[in-house]
Amino acid sequence: MTVIQTRSLTKRFSSSAPAALNELSIEVGDGVTGLVGANGAGKSTLIKILLGLLAPTSGGATVLGHDIGGQGEAIRSVVGYMPEHDCLPPDMRCIDFVVHMGRMSGLPPAPARERAADVLRHVGLAEERYRLMGGYSTGMKQRAKLAQALVHDPQLVMLDEPTNGLDPAARDDMLALVQRIGHDFGIPVLVTSHLLGELERISDHVVVLDAGDLLRSEATRTFLADTGLVLVEVLGETDAQTRMGEALAARGLSCRPRGTLIEIDPIPTEGAGDDTGNAATADPMPDPEAAARAHDRLRDVVRDTAAELGVGLVRVQPQTGRLEDVFRDEVPA
Ligand SMILES: Nc1ncnc2c1ncn2[C@@H]1O[C@H](COP(=O)(O)OP(=O)(O)OP(=O)(O)O)[C@@H](O)[C@H]1O
Ligand SMILES: [Mg+2]
Repeated sequence: MTVIQTRSLTKRFSSSAPAALNELSIEVGDGVTGLVGANGAGKSTLIKILLGLLAPTSGGATVLGHDIGGQGEAIRSVVGYMPEHDCLPPDMRCIDFVVHMGRMSGLPPAPARERAADVLRHVGLAEERYRLMGGYSTGMKQRAKLAQALVHDPQLVMLDEPTNGLDPAARDDMLALVQRIGHDFGIPVLVTSHLLGELERISDHVVVLDAGDLLRSEATRTFLADTGLVLVEVLGETDAQTRMGEALAARGLSCRPRGTLIEIDPIPTEGAGDDTGNAATADPMPDPEAAARAHDRLRDVVRDTAAELGVGLVRVQPQTGRLEDVFRDEVPA
């Protein structure tokens, strides 16, 4: 189901500055959608426009069927929003704040208290809920911000940099929470980060912005698809890597050094492209069994070559695509 649709959305903060968002047309559906881009890419601007808090310069968008031009209030009543910056009153107890936010979204007093207790338990703040938020750590503040975004049982949540300022363990916990919201609770999530690597783990779909322009909008599995390449690490005298590479090449494999590893191209599957005699032409519908056999043959060749040379085989692993490669592929250095 499409929950967000934008049409040529453009935002200029001034006529002299470049557009913060440039003719952006995207669709966001169920599950977790990662919105990634460097600082200033336009992530927060897009979220504020989708919430009806900022007006676009041109173009339009709908959120859960509501138009951003004129139906901002209807949108905000059904969307949970976790802002990027600290927005928590320091002299309030967390429980009171979350109840208050629930009341602001239209919940009666008793359900607001119940929901607040529930969401604070979900985000792991059950024990600290009676403390003043001024004394909270960054991790606790992020959790409190997440709790207030969930208290009114939203149909969609927009989380702006929920992992900002967190240490690696707290970051993993937050990412797991975000994933649970999208998958276990079934609430579509739009989540931003400037770290591509962390969103590739939890997102079903990823939208990549670069200085206001759309770079990619694709299913995450497309990025993570097995490339067919194999990475090999060998151990031996200093020239072990070079000798292994040369020996693999002598056995007809196409390979190259990649850092301390050797990257090997897949062996073409039987039947692929033989009509033209061009073995490099990929079969448009590869037979998975043939691909697996080719993969096994490649591993056998690697094993036998290493044994022959007397070098140690540390690892042989498939190379998968990564979101990090997006920027490397698309943006000139
Ligand atoms: N209120 C504003 N007035 C003028 N320019 C703004 C305003 N808000 C954002 N911008 C500009 O718009 C561009 C996009 O900013 P935005 O905050 O949306 O980026 P972002 O992707 O959220 O970045 P970050 O990762 O740093 O949060 C930036 O060049 C920023 O300077
Ligand atoms: Mg931002």
